[in-house]
Amino acid sequence: MKLHSALMSKLPADAFSEAVSHIVDTGTFVRAVLSGRRRNMQTEFERIDIRPVSIKGEIKLQMSHNDGRVTTTKNIDSNPQAIHELLESGYANILVEHTSGAVSIRITKSGDALVSYESKAREQNLDHDKKKHRLLEPADPFLSEVGIADHKGMIKASKQDKYLQVEEFLRLLAPTVEAAINAGQITRPSNAKPLTIVDLGCGHAYLTFAAHQYLRSIGLPVHVIGIDIRTASRDRNNQIAHNLGINDTITFRAEEIASTTAEAADVAIALHACDTATDDAIAWAITSKAKLMLIAPCCHHDIQRQMNESPEPWGALTKFGLLKERLGDLLTDSLRAQLIRIAGYRVDVIEFIGGEHTPRNTMIRAVKTDAKPEAIDIQRYRDICAQWGITPALEKKLPTLNIG
Ligand SMILES: C[S@@+](CC[C@H](N)C(=O)[O-])C[C@H]1O[C@@H](n2cnc3c(N)ncnc32)[C@H](O)[C@@H]1O
Repeated sequence: MKLHSALMSKLPADAFSEAVSHIVDTGTFVRAVLSGRRRNMQTEFERIDIRPVSIKGEIKLQMSHNDGRVTTTKNIDSNPQAIHELLESGYANILVEHTSGAVSIRITKSGDALVSYESKAREQNLDHDKKKHRLLEPADPFLSEVGIADHKGMIKASKQDKYLQVEEFLRLLAPTVEAAINAGQITRPSNAKPLTIVDLGCGHAYLTFAAHQYLRSIGLPVHVIGIDIRTASRDRNNQIAHNLGINDTITFRAEEIASTTAEAADVAIALHACDTATDDAIAWAITSKAKLMLIAPCCHHDIQRQMNESPEPWGALTKFGLLKERLGDLLTDSLRAQLIRIAGYRVDVIEFIGGEHTPRNTMIRAVKTDAKPEAIDIQRYRDICAQWGITPALEKKLPTLNIG
């Protein structure tokens, strides 16, 4: 049974000492997660995961961080002073799990430490293999319900890549959401006002369910809507939600993205929605003022087709099908990123999973800042389109965007 005690306000130094005492107690420490940024402080990484590992009979602390491209891992000695310094280095959220519970520290804007406790038995896993610490327990019933794990809770061989993709997506989603909450771009979710997520083109909803389960497991109340054109997907996914007893917080609708009845979201997700369905998803997110977008594009036929008519000298390039295709992908996603930026978002483009698992591994991540577009950004967009003789589908779907 989970027991959450009321939030307690403490001096950060005292809260950190308590967290350190759990982390260096290598007989009971399970894992720690450092994320978010304290006001006016910079952190070296978006998120750090720490867990104990046994190496040649000695317990070390394995620290992993992800720079948006690769995860780097190093093993360090369990040194209280060094851990204390790390906790003080600017992270706003510190979660420490141990074998009988957890302590969660949030440093507020005014610099206080809000501390809460949880009482729950957990097991230590000291395996030192090259595998990453998993965010999702393979035995989580949702994984067998969606067909990634078998009925014994083992990941199916045929679904290893999907499982990995889901994990990598969560590794990106969670710190991005936490950072947006800490920066005030998303209102801190509560049970009364949960974080709303709309997944556009959700298909079998592996990622939709994973986002729901994982964000809830780290204490974020969520309400998730999955949109897919296929009625069979809607029915299957709603049945799974019902089987898992979570159908009050995750629901599915059979709708075209372009005419979805979903009205708004804090977070809009579209992963591998086909061709211009990705543009429909971005246009929906911008129009409905989503705070955060995580968009992994799929195939890019729209601009590739238009490149057949591009003026010279581009014929030297477009005559090679392979290069035309690659350049078409790059042009499409660069212009999407530029339009999103013009619409008042801070945008970055990252890889969210190694290319060996899927070639479709580009992710456009955007956070709404409402910054006014710079004239140079609009000019660049216009010049690229003019030089190539193209009009991206996304531009046509955003008629009110002021691009001159
Ligand atoms: C490649 S699947 C990706 C599924 C899921 N997002 C994932 O990453 O596992 C693309 C999904 O988008 C849906 N889709 C494509 N175009 C759509 C549209 N215009 N409106 C709604 N759904 C669409 C398809 O039915 C399909 O289920």
